Amino acid sequence: MTKKISLTRYLVEQQRVDGHIPGDLRLLLEVVARSCKSISQAVNKGDLGGILGAADTENVQGEMQKQLDIIANEVLIEANEWGGHLAAMASEEMDSIYVVPNRYPQGEYLLMFDPLDGSSNIDVNVSIGTIFSVLKKPEGSPGVSEADFLQPGSQQVAAGYCVYGPQTTLVLTVGDGVVMFSLDREQGSFVLIKENVEIPADTKEFAINMSNMRHWDEPVKRYVDECLAGKEGPRGKDFNMRWVASMVADVHRILTRGGVFLYPWDKREPQKAGKLRLMYEANPMSWLVEQAGGAATNGQQRILDIQPTKLHERVSVILGSKNEVERITSYHGTL
Ligand code: AHG
Ligand code: MN
Ligand code: MN
Repeated sequence: MTKKISLTRYLVEQQRVDGHIPGDLRLLLEVVARSCKSISQAVNKGDLGGILGAADTENVQGEMQKQLDIIANEVLIEANEWGGHLAAMASEEMDSIYVVPNRYPQGEYLLMFDPLDGSSNIDVNVSIGTIFSVLKKPEGSPGVSEADFLQPGSQQVAAGYCVYGPQTTLVLTVGDGVVMFSLDREQGSFVLIKENVEIPADTKEFAINMSNMRHWDEPVKRYVDECLAGKEGPRGKDFNMRWVASMVADVHRILTRGGVFLYPWDKREPQKAGKLRLMYEANPMSWLVEQAGGAATNGQQRILDIQPTKLHERVSVILGSKNEVERITSYHGTL
């Protein structure tokens, strides 16, 4: 029988191997995983737990919140505030940062999350997830403020997501490749299922919300038109299309079998850089994708190099199989 490696054991061993993961970061990751386990439990109950449906409140981005958005946010805050590993948290569902209350010790890490990604899929029983990103509080800055969070994605010290689908799978990077763990509900623990995850450089699968086609910019339109032209077109091969409408599930597919994901800037609201949020959606996903050999850009610039100017900043996202992302970048005239 092959030995099962739990997330706890994996992290302890990583901490031991040339101090790869500092003790406080290990604790942080364990607590995030525990929160995801509890969110997974709530997702699993669905209607039986009375947690489906709208909450009748709006978040800072003017989006209607679902009950589960709020529950997942609370689970993450409550689990993470007392351990002494964090200085502050930020979330899609909170206007401003949440500083660890004075009654608890303050740590040196900053945690950001999209507590529930794919909210439109909650009530229809389709895969959703939690996305998270970890930064270190800049040294020498007294107290903690929003400015401490405004670091480019290249500064992340850990990033990952947990997808609540047919299986609950936690995907993680600390800058040394990508690992995946699935929740063993009988044991109540995450178990290692894949190490050294690699995204194939080429693909025949793309993911984009086609209903926005008329609003796209020329380079994106050109790329998708060429995919749609199939074997007879300039690409000389047929493409397949998938769009789950949960970034977490679309990225999970790409980490599993390759592909390219686009949520580009479009003309619907030209003043917005895109729909997805830089700090707790695009950055963690971009780092995971790069760590698995893929690429991530906004069309002009590597996403991880973008200097954020505000917490809830939006960004255009193109990520996945390397050769495909490079092709789209070249259509933008930036390669
Ligand atoms: P969230 O539920 O956290 O607001 O994020 C939803 C995002 C992302 O997960 C997904 O790729 C995209 O919105 C779907 O957008 P459309 O409904 O426009 O396809
Ligand atoms: Mn999201
Ligand atoms: Mn969300």
